[in-house]
Amino acid sequence: MLFDTHAHYDDERFELDRSDVIERAHRSGVSYIINAASDIKSCEEGIAFARKYEYMYAAVGVHPHEVGKLDENTLDRIGQLAKEEKVVAIGEIGLDYYYDTAPREIQKHWFAQQINLARELQLPIIVHDRDAHQDSMNILKDNKANEVGGVFHCYSGSVEMAKELIDYNFYISVGGALTFKNAKKLVEVVRWVPMERLLIETDCPYLTPEPHRGKRNDSSYVRFVAEKVAQIKELSFEEVAEITLENAKKLFRI
Ligand code: NI
Repeated sequence: MLFDTHAHYDDERFELDRSDVIERAHRSGVSYIINAASDIKSCEEGIAFARKYEYMYAAVGVHPHEVGKLDENTLDRIGQLAKEEKVVAIGEIGLDYYYDTAPREIQKHWFAQQINLARELQLPIIVHDRDAHQDSMNILKDNKANEVGGVFHCYSGSVEMAKELIDYNFYISVGGALTFKNAKKLVEVVRWVPMERLLIETDCPYLTPEPHRGKRNDSSYVRFVAEKVAQIKELSFEEVAEITLENAKKLFRI
């Protein structure tokens, strides 16, 4: 009954027990999982997971950390992979000014190119925005991203920006960070965001929610995020699970 809209099972931290972890999460009540890609190899791996597990889907795209290696041929390859069965989004794509792994101009260029690819293919986008809120908004708007819509994953912006995004055909997704003690700003965002615009995720193996913070994350822990949302929204866990699952099915057309 839960939908983990953002996981990285291609990560090497799952190398030794990947199928055990995925199958256990599914048995524990995670009905759907989207594997978000970071580079071409992980696009291919995500598609392989989607073939293997009926409850897994894939997003294809190149993460801002990896765009330094992108070229036109690679973008064409992403376009081809995006036509594979069970690919439901282009992502994760965006800007990361915290790590600045690639020069900002390069990040902006490939973010825009991948938005345009998503529009060509009519697929929603999964956006990574870290310390780059204004530029992310500008690039979305310059490239008419509202035509396909999508989600800001591990949302870290303000309430005002969340309003702007929702008006622009986007969803807000929250993960483990919502359960952290210093999550005041994010709690305010969740309090404000209409339930029909909220998604939940793990971003596993990263960002493990309390009470397991510090350990490796996996999709089964998405329930801690749902519990926290339920507490903030004064809803039952089941209501949050059901609404966020239906939201994700609608956005990703599953
Ligand atoms: Ni991610």
